[in-house]
Amino acid sequence: MKWLLGIDIGGTTVKMAVLDMNGIISDKWEVKTDIRENGVHIPKDIATSFETYLETSGKKKEDFAGAGIGAPGFINFSEGVVEYSPNIGWKDFALVSEFEQAVGLPAVLENDANAAALGEMWKGAGEGASELLAITLGTGVGGGVITNGNIVHGTAGMAGEIGHITVERDENKAVKCGCGRLGCIETIASATGISRLALQKRKNQDTTLNELKDVTARDVFEAYKAGDSIATEVIDEMTEYLGLTISNIANTLNPKMIVIGGGVSKAGHALLEPLDAQFKRFALERVYESTSFKIAELENDAGVIGCAWLARKHFLPTRV
Ligand code: BGC
Ligand code: NA
Ligand code: ZN
Repeated sequence: MKWLLGIDIGGTTVKMAVLDMNGIISDKWEVKTDIRENGVHIPKDIATSFETYLETSGKKKEDFAGAGIGAPGFINFSEGVVEYSPNIGWKDFALVSEFEQAVGLPAVLENDANAAALGEMWKGAGEGASELLAITLGTGVGGGVITNGNIVHGTAGMAGEIGHITVERDENKAVKCGCGRLGCIETIASATGISRLALQKRKNQDTTLNELKDVTARDVFEAYKAGDSIATEVIDEMTEYLGLTISNIANTLNPKMIVIGGGVSKAGHALLEPLDAQFKRFALERVYESTSFKIAELENDAGVIGCAWLARKHFLPTRV
């Protein structure tokens, strides 16, 4: 029996899990993402925490078939290199070789949101769905497109980079994104975007959001559920832009299923309901009617499960 190591690198935490070949999680844990010096310490941090895990669990490195890594950013798949990561700062970072040297396991690399899409297809809300669009709302906004059961990579590996779809063309309103451009959906619909909108809108307003020092996306959804008018403005604006984005993608791909994951999706119904209304407003009727739209079932585990799926496919091909 061989184990698989799934590693989902996010802008805030690195999620790690040990899974069996059927994608069942045996253990999982997290380490903080160290973005100092453009993320150079991350492979070492992963290695240290994996060594600690091996010591305490009694599992041996030899019992692992390999690792799947999901990383945020633009990836050169043939080289195993992250060419640019807006939220970590990696530039031409040889993640696969750095990881293999530090950890001592062979690794396969995928974009984080693509990995989440695979996880959802394998075990989650989209179980078996071979026409699937996954959208992750976390530090950044990610996308993963699956058609015919495979991730679409595009000619330069950039397919699915939906976080950088431009939605705000007014230069006076548009905010600079981690990718260097202005007005990307990521600046509005990510956890950071939501909190930025809230900080901007709460000024000189009567809102419970003024009782907080920092305002997280979660705080905004809590206030929204309690009927706070400023939080409502934020969520209305965010879901309008995101609903428009999703409709345009859905009109293009006509997926069977759209799953919304990432930390922000923990808001559940409070997010899904207004977003679905905007999706209905902007999408072609036949597209809207033929798509099932839901919150990711695997929540934070989608990435590590998708990574395990990849590692299995790559290192245990006879199993698939
Ligand atoms: C990156 C994507 C990533 C997403 C979520 C975006 O800023 O460009 O590659 O999937 O954030 O982490
Ligand atoms: Na992607
Ligand atoms: Zn961008």
